[in-house]
Amino acid sequence: MLFELYPKESRRELFSRDDVIDYIKRQIHAGNWVVITGQRMIGKTSVVKVVLNELASEGSGPCT
Ligand SMILES: Nc1ncnc2c1ncn2[C@@H]1O[C@H](COP(=O)(O)OP(=O)(O)OP(=O)(O)O)[C@@H](O)[C@H]1O
Ligand SMILES: [Mg+2]
Repeated sequence: MLFELYPKESRRELFSRDDVIDYIKRQIHAGNWVVITGQRMIGKTSVVKVVLNELASEGSGPCT
């Protein structure tokens, strides 16, 4: 569903964000802080949720 209002949780629901998701995961694995900014409703929360879900399912949450 492309036009629902809640943030997306999985990569396959997010359009054209593979590069930024992979970039954030690489930065977290490298131990770097990541700041996410952008205009309202651009998809910031969705990207963070996808990153956290993928890190958790890969057994490497950012807080472990
Ligand atoms: N790349 C995308 N593909 C599909 N849906 C998207 C994409 N980007 C944003 N959306 C959708 O747009 C809406 C807003 O996304 P989200 O809440 O993640 O944005 P946000 O930047 O965190 O917003 P806010 O500034 O209000 O916090 C949601 O319904 C989300 O699913
Ligand atoms: Mg948000």
